[in-house]
Amino acid sequence: MQRTPIIAGNWKMHKTTDEAREFAHVVRSLSPDGKVDTVICAPFTSLNVLVQELQEYPVAVGAQNMHWEESGAYTGEISPGMLTNLGVQYVIIGHSERREYFAETDETVNKKTKAAFAHTLIPIVCVGENLEQRESGKTKEWVREQVLRAVEGLSSEQAKQLIIAYEPIWAIGTGKSSSAEDAQDVISFIRGTVEDAFDAQVAAQVRIQYGGSVKPDNIATYMEQPDIDGALVGGASLTPESFLQLLEGAL
Ligand code: G3H
Repeated sequence: MQRTPIIAGNWKMHKTTDEAREFAHVVRSLSPDGKVDTVICAPFTSLNVLVQELQEYPVAVGAQNMHWEESGAYTGEISPGMLTNLGVQYVIIGHSERREYFAETDETVNKKTKAAFAHTLIPIVCVGENLEQRESGKTKEWVREQVLRAVEGLSSEQAKQLIIAYEPIWAIGTGKSSSAEDAQDVISFIRGTVEDAFDAQVAAQVRIQYGGSVKPDNIATYMEQPDIDGALVGGASLTPESFLQLLEGAL
């Protein structure tokens, strides 16, 4: 099964709207060739400008979170329909920073994942263990549970379109990336978990990224692994030059 690689930048809480526009202008002038699916996941305030500036370029726009309800008295929240109405195509769900600082749970991750598909948004569902879990040999047990809870109630057709980002928490923003072999081992295990939840066909189609201190100079080592289909990148996605180097490195 040939899976198209997908590289997603996660800007986290960086960039004003003006800075986002400037980034888009540089990316446009350097024109990525579209051989990998490319996404920029920006703060809500920059989504509109990115959609407008990048609409004729092979770069999709994603959000970093959303609520699962259509609308209602949820002060400060953004609904799936608000994102699709802007032209947003992807949404990160359950990033470890949301789980740690904003009380996201496996239950809310599942609700958001289902809501994303109901609104034709592609969810990028994040899973990953912390250092303590890693050191006590609990990585696979933990990640399996996160994956199974996230995909509960999805149809096989939805699950085939799902993107899972395996991000060991100890590797995020620390410069201590997982070795490509270790990442492959866990990601292959995640693919097996998807097979258990659905079937071999779904498992062969679901795309699974690695995230955690991915840089232009190490991305190729991950992309060489048979089960790693791309990367979710924080820090190294923040300048257009580095972002485009990541895309080149991913080929
Ligand atoms: O969503 C992206 C990840 O949290 C990775 O961040 O590339 O800065 O380590 P990082």
